[in-house]
Amino acid sequence: VYYGDEYLTQETRDLLSSLPSEKGWLVSQMYQFEGSWQTQALLQGIVNCQKHFEANESDVILSTLPKSGTTWLKALLFALINRHKFPVSGNHPLLVTNPHSLVPFLEGDYYVSPDVNFSELPSPRLIQTHIPYHLLPVSVKRSSCKIVYCCRSPKDTFVSLWHFGRKLAPEETAGYPIETAVEAFCQGKFIGGPFWDLVLEYWYESRKNPDKVLFITYEELKKQTEVEIKRIAEFIGCGFAAEEEVSEIVKLCSFESLSSLEVNRQGKLPIIGIESNAFFRKGEIGGWRDTLSESLAEVIDKTTEEKLGGSGLKF
Ligand code: A3P
Repeated sequence: VYYGDEYLTQETRDLLSSLPSEKGWLVSQMYQFEGSWQTQALLQGIVNCQKHFEANESDVILSTLPKSGTTWLKALLFALINRHKFPVSGNHPLLVTNPHSLVPFLEGDYYVSPDVNFSELPSPRLIQTHIPYHLLPVSVKRSSCKIVYCCRSPKDTFVSLWHFGRKLAPEETAGYPIETAVEAFCQGKFIGGPFWDLVLEYWYESRKNPDKVLFITYEELKKQTEVEIKRIAEFIGCGFAAEEEVSEIVKLCSFESLSSLEVNRQGKLPIIGIESNAFFRKGEIGGWRDTLSESLAEVIDKTTEEKLGGSGLKF
């Protein structure tokens, strides 16, 4: 899963050899870089964009952990920001293009092309990342660009990741016990982890600087999509006029609508080569129940309690 090693620089290879590393669940090797577990390719991408990415004041950065609703938010934000250029009633790009191909992946694109600068993107540029707050390029933090952070309940995130891994790498994951995967998850050892540290960084940042970071959850987005979309639109400075309809965007980007489109059912995404349909599974709240035993659910709950205690953040 995720890229090869053909674009690694010597500098990064040297760095990698000095980092704690483990055989990962889902990936062959993971490296712990400044508190965050990453693959070698994503680490190279992070280093590249830290060096070269220049944020614009008007940029909108979507940040998530993998399997927290990234695909959905890419679609929603794309439709929202471009709603005058691409009216939902028309021949919308989302009907023929997977959301991942419409919104660039910061560290992924910087891995493949260190000099990419997204200059071809119309303003406001919409860019997605899984980078922890403390590792974001300095210009993202310094500029007045906006960060929308979406998190999802840890049990549903884990279960989504579990099935994603089994679908993408059936042979490698076949013999991997779910108990070990839960343990790895709770220790933070998966791409982008640890879950709680990453979520808390963005959570505290959104408390400290609410004009800069908007913290939303998959669950709220699912329960009251229109309300949340309006909140996001206000935050990024393209609020809805009273008479404007939000419901069309909600419908276009719903799980049912996106997952039934031909473009999201067939074929693979360019560059990363992941099957398009791997990003659409169930799209439910509480779906963990069909995969996690009560005792494994308790292990995740207990870690959540320990890590989030006192933060004011609850799932
Ligand atoms: P499940 O595996 O629980 O079904 P990401 O996009 O961050 O990789 O997250 C994938 C998860 O989001 C999957 O969760 C997927 O089904 C769900 N998802 C994808 N599109 C969605 C949509 N339009 N609405 C709600 N959930 C969606």
